[in-house]
Amino acid sequence: MKEIVYMDAAASFLKPQSVIDAETDFLLNRYANAGRGVCCRATAVDDMIHAVRVQLADFINADVSQVVFTSGATDGLNRIVNIIINQPQYNNLSTFAVSDLEHHSARLPWQELLKAGKIREMLKCELDENFDIKIDSIPNTDVLVITAMSNVIGRPQDVKKIIAAARKKNPDVITIVDASQYVVHEQIDVKSWDCDFMVFSGHKIGADTGVGVLYIRDAEKYMPDKFGGGMVLKVSDTDLVLNNAPEKFEAGTLPLTQICGFGIAIQELKKNRPDLNLVKYMYDELNKIPKIKILTSRDAALLSFVVDGMHVLDFGTLAGANGICLRVGNMCASWIHKLLGIDGSIRVSVGPWNSMLDAEQFISVVKNIVK
Ligand SMILES: Cc1ncc(COP(=O)(O)O)c(C=O)c1O
Repeated sequence: MKEIVYMDAAASFLKPQSVIDAETDFLLNRYANAGRGVCCRATAVDDMIHAVRVQLADFINADVSQVVFTSGATDGLNRIVNIIINQPQYNNLSTFAVSDLEHHSARLPWQELLKAGKIREMLKCELDENFDIKIDSIPNTDVLVITAMSNVIGRPQDVKKIIAAARKKNPDVITIVDASQYVVHEQIDVKSWDCDFMVFSGHKIGADTGVGVLYIRDAEKYMPDKFGGGMVLKVSDTDLVLNNAPEKFEAGTLPLTQICGFGIAIQELKKNRPDLNLVKYMYDELNKIPKIKILTSRDAALLSFVVDGMHVLDFGTLAGANGICLRVGNMCASWIHKLLGIDGSIRVSVGPWNSMLDAEQFISVVKNIVK
């Protein structure tokens, strides 16, 4: 059987053995539900969740009460919209601003609100020639949605400067950061960014699917968007006294096994981030092939390109048949492709498991496909 080279880290990270071992041990030996039991196993699960939350808070420079577990970035981005529009003080939101870097998960919840007539207008932040958000194009807006790193362009955005520019225009702007790709390569610092909300998914950094983080700066100020077990301090027929944040945002049973692996995945990522020299090497090699048009910069965290006269699906199928796992299509980021004047692209993204041998194998397969 052919050796498989997995270069689709930006879609989902492979899981370190230590994550698999921790989850297996949890399921086999330590499993119990959290937040409701008094037996030693149940309280140990509470302790485990708390420890991972502390780890996450440290990882993004937040307070523990600001870190909410979700089922992933998409869940978080949709929940933010519901949390905001449920607040009486935000009944009159008028505008939201996005750029063309956005993943569907970040923009669509707001676009749908626009369609439903619950917000008046969508404003645009412009991109410069490197596809970075132009700081001087940040509009005066009620809500700003930023993708800290596009999953097609792979460049870190200057989130701190972008948010400062937005606050200069409107001190009350609500700022939302999608850090789903940024988290893999760069250090998140929500305090220095001064954002109101931030999300990412665990599976993008080696944790399991079904778990993610939602950072809420003013967590005590907002009413929750979901109701159920685990978030209640006291309840009667008519009244509800909520737990404090973050628990008040965590109705229902959490993804316990995935949370257990999340903590280990963070430890592993800190020790071992993807080697972006591999991306530079592949960039340089692809740059020598006339039929290939590279869409990303040499210092980007991933490599996106198209091949003259070849559909991206054909390329992806041929690459796959030769053992190279990569991503083709619109990457759930239609707007940047529209801006580029194409329907889709080919994306290669590396994880800590990839080596120079993998990069060389990729280049040799590409040369065979396009010759
Ligand atoms: C930039 C960005 N935002 C959001 C998402 C959505 O993540 P998930 O599917 O894990 O919810 C992705 C996933 O590809 C992404 O790359």
